[in-house]
Amino acid sequence: MRAIQIARLDGPEAAEVVEIDEPAADGVVIEVHAAGVAFPDALQSRGLYQYKPELPYTPGGEIAGVVRSAPAGAHVSAGDRVAGLTMLCGGMAEVVTLPAERVFALPDAVSFEAGAGLLFNDLTVLFALRERGRLAAGETVLVHGAAGGIGTSTLRLAPALGAGRTIAVVSTEAKKEIARTAGATDVVLADGFKDAVKELTGGRGVDIVLDPVGGDRVTDSLRSLAPGGRLLVVGFTGGDIPTIKTNRLLLNNVDAVGVGWGAWTMTHPGYVAQQWAELAPLLASGAVTAPEPEIYPLERAGEAIAALENRTAKGKVVVRLR
Ligand SMILES: NC(=O)c1ccc[n+]([C@@H]2O[C@H](COP(=O)([O-])OP(=O)(O)OC[C@H]3O[C@@H](n4cnc5c(N)ncnc54)[C@H](OP(=O)(O)O)[C@@H]3O)[C@@H](O)[C@H]2O)c1
Repeated sequence: MRAIQIARLDGPEAAEVVEIDEPAADGVVIEVHAAGVAFPDALQSRGLYQYKPELPYTPGGEIAGVVRSAPAGAHVSAGDRVAGLTMLCGGMAEVVTLPAERVFALPDAVSFEAGAGLLFNDLTVLFALRERGRLAAGETVLVHGAAGGIGTSTLRLAPALGAGRTIAVVSTEAKKEIARTAGATDVVLADGFKDAVKELTGGRGVDIVLDPVGGDRVTDSLRSLAPGGRLLVVGFTGGDIPTIKTNRLLLNNVDAVGVGWGAWTMTHPGYVAQQWAELAPLLASGAVTAPEPEIYPLERAGEAIAALENRTAKGKVVVRLR
């Protein structure tokens, strides 16, 4: 089969299309139509992610495709359209084998490309807003990196989960449109976002800041919270892991909350299936729109991964295999 392999940790440009053997059929065997690209793919290609696969490895943590075969008694069978989580690598290959609990029936309304780009981010955002952020009806959610994968996912999901308003923070004028298309109520530039939020909320601030960026934005994020607000720490695309002065939490009665979806799924068996049971009907009915990813052919997988590293990605990025 054709697959992407990375044989040296020089960054995304090391990604090459190779011919390798199909994996052993010990689980649900899936013919992959598209594979999602996420920020860890960029970090992994330089050996900078906490999980370091043995070289050479195939990048890609999530896929969508058609079941070729499934073990007896599995909840999916041959011919089913599915999305699946390889979790940290292995997705950018024409065939993958997954344990049944990481395979999910894809609603007909969701294309393979959209399906390959939704599990990782949507399930993280659902976990962040619902479980960790305690989102209540009518609350205002601000999201950083709003034109990226986690960002657009937050803008698509938050209203369906009850948010009354979403404020998108992006770095450039060009990215504003991406956030608007994903459903943002208001869009502001990262530069000066604290003052813009103050004005937009009449001085009150927001109830939740969902932050996949970190770096030097964290203090202004805490300052942008209304009393009782929650800062959800999701990632550090900005590079630096910021330090929080705890007096900021006390002064305004706000929380800084860690969001580690992958770690939670390890300690809560069945949690992902429970999340999918909530999300799939929302996608099927259109209450949550499917992502509209930027699609790259397999031959340009390196470019697709680099788009996240060099900040040019528009929304979610996926690689097409069939
Ligand atoms: N905690 C969890 O469970 C969990 C789960 C999934 C993902 N994550 C993390 O969430 C983060 C976002 O992932 P993603 O897939 O949404 O990434 P993405 O699509 O690349 O979006 C990230 C956004 O970060 C912003 N950014 C700011 N500084 C940047 C820089 N120096 N380099 C690159 N981007 C920068 C960019 O927006 P602007 O240019 O507009 O600022 C970009 O749109 C990653 O750190 C990922 O590991 C965490």
